[in-house]
Amino acid sequence: MRWWPRSIRWQMLAGLLLLEILSIALFALVVMRQQNKELKERAHQRLTYEAGALASQSAEALARESPGWLDLSVRMKGEAPSIASAKVTDAAGNVLSISEGDKSKANLEPAERATIPMLTAGKAECLDLPHNRWECAKAIYVGNTMRGIAWVEFDERTLRDRFRALLYGMEIFGGIWVLASTALVLLMSRSIAQPLAVLHRGTRALMNKNDGNFPLPVTVKNEIGDLILAFNGMVASLDEQRAGLNDTLSLLDSMLAYAPIGLALFDRSCRLVRVNQVFAGITALPLSRHLGRTLADVLPQPIAQELKEAVQQVLDGEKPVQNLELSGQRGKPPQPWTWLVSAYPVRTTHQQVRWVGMVVLDATERKLSEEALRRTEKLAVTGRMAATIAHEINNPLEGITNLLFLLRNYSGLDATALNYVNMAEYELRRISEITQQTLRFYRQSTLPSRTPLRELLDSVLSLYHGRLNALGIQVVRDYDPEMSLFCFAGEIRQVVANLVGNAIDAASQGGRLEIRARQCNSGKDGAASGMRFTVADTGAGMEPEVRECIFEPFFTTKEVMGTGLGLWVSREIVLKHHGHIAVRSRSASRATQTGSTSGTVFRFFIPDDEKLAGNNARNAV
Ligand SMILES: Nc1ncnc2c1ncn2[C@@H]1O[C@H](COP(=O)(O)OP(=O)(O)OP(=O)(O)O)[C@@H](O)[C@H]1O
Ligand SMILES: [Mg+2]
Repeated sequence: MRWWPRSIRWQMLAGLLLLEILSIALFALVVMRQQNKELKERAHQRLTYEAGALASQSAEALARESPGWLDLSVRMKGEAPSIASAKVTDAAGNVLSISEGDKSKANLEPAERATIPMLTAGKAECLDLPHNRWECAKAIYVGNTMRGIAWVEFDERTLRDRFRALLYGMEIFGGIWVLASTALVLLMSRSIAQPLAVLHRGTRALMNKNDGNFPLPVTVKNEIGDLILAFNGMVASLDEQRAGLNDTLSLLDSMLAYAPIGLALFDRSCRLVRVNQVFAGITALPLSRHLGRTLADVLPQPIAQELKEAVQQVLDGEKPVQNLELSGQRGKPPQPWTWLVSAYPVRTTHQQVRWVGMVVLDATERKLSEEALRRTEKLAVTGRMAATIAHEINNPLEGITNLLFLLRNYSGLDATALNYVNMAEYELRRISEITQQTLRFYRQSTLPSRTPLRELLDSVLSLYHGRLNALGIQVVRDYDPEMSLFCFAGEIRQVVANLVGNAIDAASQGGRLEIRARQCNSGKDGAASGMRFTVADTGAGMEPEVRECIFEPFFTTKEVMGTGLGLWVSREIVLKHHGHIAVRSRSASRATQTGSTSGTVFRFFIPDDEKLAGNNARNAV
């Protein structure tokens, strides 16, 4: 019903008007019918009476044979109220007198003629004429003879006037009724439609998240007013719940954003719906480039495939996948990494897994530390064994030295045998030296001491003597072995050993290794005096990106052969002595371009400060 109004106010008004119009029309119809019936009855009575009166007057006039009297009687009757016309005819129907018009031209109508035979003495006969006209006829008797008929016609204008008055009354009554009910409806609609409109506006504002309109004004004190109050209460409690939810969400958000582990959420089609900064760091893509992407879009194969299988496994089996270990290499130069991945189902209802959450823990350091620890443990065991062997060898060496001394003094030896004894003594001294160095390496002092360079540098070189010889590396010693330095001897020896070890690893057959030591002031501020050590080789050198990372723990290019801790530990030792270390290197590829030789130079400075070293000793203890 397109024409039917939408608002309650106009619906109530239109409904009421329709109802009123219908009820008033029905009421008018019933009243009119009733009135019509009553008026007709009264008109019949009146006509019967008037016809009777005219008949008796006419009977007298006819008896006296006075046409004038007859005419007067007829004319007066015709002018009586509610009478339209009157006439008197003879028994055959010929008009003798008529109230209006010319009696010679007047004729009875067919209905009137048909009534004449039915007329009897004493009884008036009423008849309906065409066009809603009523007439009454009464026979005129003079003595026992019927001398004529008196005809009286009702003035229907009387009826029309009555109806009009009735209608007018009804119109006034209807108008007042409609006006009063309209006012009532408008009044009622104020207390229903207006608060409902307020409620409607409030609901819309709530949908548009416009909280400024609340609480809604309560303008009426009825059920709708109570409804608005309840609505205000509901909005307030929703606000409280929303604030609580927001708090929880911000808590989760910050946990997700700042957690030191990689976190990601996947939907059922294995697409990323949320990731945190750490996860973005793992994929090396900006945070915004993850949403809606698959794992294959953000990670290389086969890692992406393995992770996808874990997610799918959770979706299919709805059971968490825990501590899946993934490893590989990345970066330039490539470095090993290890991740521990766990995936778990996230349900919104008990039935279905809506998302899959993934936690990625970077276990690279832990893995490398474990490996380094294993290797260090092995080295320590080997060192202890070497020290034990060196110690055990010392005793028979003493015996052999004594025996050779006795043999040298034996008189029966010729020159050749004596030469052999000399050679044996020389080799024995070397064995003894090696065992001493080995023991010195193992037995490190916890207190700093003034140590001659001979002990710091020669001891290292004699340890690497075998490897240096095997590779035919020419060793250049540029230092005074008698010069000394106040330091933790064992630690400085370890630094030199690391640098020499690296130089030998990088060296090719027939290279050169130069070890230099000079007393000088610190290159940095020129204040502290100390010793500057240089370890230079003509090995393969380093590319710039390798040189950048060499002091980082676990950085190595030697795969399983190196732990990547040597230079990191060396730098820590130098810093502990308040010194500094630097490196220069030219890679083989760069050397080919420039037509020079490749190689690496490490320089480190150790201050010769007994007070400083003393502090360090206290710290170390
Ligand atoms: N003299 C050098 N020439 C060329 N590269 C070097 C030299 N010294 C160090 N490097 C590079 O620096 C890396 C780190 O050296 P570092 O001594 O810390 O670890 P490593 O030698 O690999 O292992 P580790 O010393 O624990 O056995 C080496 O892997 C190597 O690539
Ligand atoms: Mg090393």
